[in-house]
Amino acid sequence: MTPFQIYTYPDKRLKQRAKPVDNIDGALQEIIDRMAFTMYQAPGVGLAAIQVGIDKSIMVYDVTAREEKRDLHVIINPKILSCEGETISENEGCLSVPDYRADVKRAKSVLVEGFDRDGNPLRIDAEDFLAVVLQHEIDHLNGKLFIDRISRLKRELYKKRILKQLKRK
Ligand code: NI
Repeated sequence: MTPFQIYTYPDKRLKQRAKPVDNIDGALQEIIDRMAFTMYQAPGVGLAAIQVGIDKSIMVYDVTAREEKRDLHVIINPKILSCEGETISENEGCLSVPDYRADVKRAKSVLVEGFDRDGNPLRIDAEDFLAVVLQHEIDHLNGKLFIDRISRLKRELYKKRILKQLKRK
């Protein structure tokens, strides 16, 4: 299997909003498998279809750190039903925002609803790290990056650095 290319900031494709999936077929399963492969190879703990240029509402994640015990999760058409509390997600990072980490204010817990890869409805009551991962990936599906949630000054500094790097290439 070949991994997808992961688009990085400031690629405009990352600002797209994902369209809901209305048909779970073989082609979709292939996309999911390739997304998971891409995520593990990166490596990352989560990936949204928007990051690989597919404007469908699909996310994959695996918050287990150890590779020999993988625990892949897929959510199709994820939706946050409710948020509670507040937490600072320390040193949050993103495969689409290379070489950068920042603290991000997030909800402490979220209730998420969607469908698994077989089309069965699912509901996840998540806290702390998992809650942050879900919020981060669902943000992607809404065309948002974690740097849209930090101060404008910090974002501008990052942007400057990236544009400088791109010019050098
Ligand atoms: Ni990300």
